Amino acid sequence: MSFHTRFTPVTLAIGTLLLATGAQAQDAQTVRIAHAGPTSGGIAHIGKDTENGVRLAIDDLNAQNLVIGGKKIRFEIAPEDDAGDPKQATAVAQKLCDQKVAGVVGHLQSGTTIPAAGIYNRCGIPHITTAATNPELTKPGYNTTYRMIANDNALGAALAIYAADGLKLKNVAVIDDRTAYGQGLADVFKETAKKKGMSVVATEFTTDKATDFMAILTNIKAKKPDAVFLGGLDSQAGPMLRQMEQLGMGSVKFFGGDGVCTEKLPELASKVAAVANVTCATGGISVEKMAGGLEWKKRYDAKFPGQFQIYSPYAYDATMVLVDAMKRAGSVDPKVYVPQLAKTNYKGLTAQVQFTPKGELTQPAVTLNAYKNNARTPLN
Ligand code: ALA
Repeated sequence: MSFHTRFTPVTLAIGTLLLATGAQAQDAQTVRIAHAGPTSGGIAHIGKDTENGVRLAIDDLNAQNLVIGGKKIRFEIAPEDDAGDPKQATAVAQKLCDQKVAGVVGHLQSGTTIPAAGIYNRCGIPHITTAATNPELTKPGYNTTYRMIANDNALGAALAIYAADGLKLKNVAVIDDRTAYGQGLADVFKETAKKKGMSVVATEFTTDKATDFMAILTNIKAKKPDAVFLGGLDSQAGPMLRQMEQLGMGSVKFFGGDGVCTEKLPELASKVAAVANVTCATGGISVEKMAGGLEWKKRYDAKFPGQFQIYSPYAYDATMVLVDAMKRAGSVDPKVYVPQLAKTNYKGLTAQVQFTPKGELTQPAVTLNAYKNNARTPLN
């Protein structure tokens, strides 16, 4: 008898164990919920944070041993990296359609989420973004597209109103990264700032890959603005703040949306003093203000130390909202449960979640943040 076919007591025991777990797995139906976002590239830390939110929700759901439509359900994450690239995002969306996942939390950026939304709609799989903020996303009114946070009409306007009324600033220079997010947010900011009597003294453009802003900052410095507004991400804001300091622009205020408003921003800016000039807006309330938020954050930090950025609580709730619709429909089949998503009235960690007919929150909140001693601190 060869070594391979000899049954020792140990191999028999392992065989029985495998059979036992196999039988349990057959009992339960595996339901895959995807997270799609950038988990590589310049803002991988933001993508990891939302992915972690989905992971935490799935652990909590599995601990509940849910039965849906008479079947025991085990949830599993399908983690997908779109690298923050619109083309890769559409490939990811098509792959998730082909794999027939039950639902998607994602994507993270407007530039990736807007093209992916059409693909999910064609294959009937719902997706909830917890970070893409361009208002255009929900304009088509797909019954498969939902947003868990305020959009840039609210974020851009709140920033401009604070600049004008709160800080009494008069002149602002505006930079955008030419993405769907950066451009859209900068436009809303400019429009509101002008209505509030501010002057836009310079307009400059960059990309979401750039790290050298010396040339555009030098142009801007010559116009002597009170503030710089960036429609872009923290991977640009960090080096930009460093370079503003180098150019002697250390007293110029700095504004940005949620893309710059991460825990990691001070580190990306090498903790230069100019970090204290930043005001940035995030959709939703801060984790500190959520009922049970601090306890939730403790559990998050225990599982994913040092990884919290912005929107993981919203990704956690988005997963719960998908499953809440499945429960009410008595089915994990998107064709059956999608109509229930529109009727969501879910008491989550982040909010009482209800959607408008277009898939926006009925009552989106906005938080303005500053950085005190290099720690992000909500102002409201
Ligand atoms: N809110 C940012 C976007 O929409 C991250 O792209």
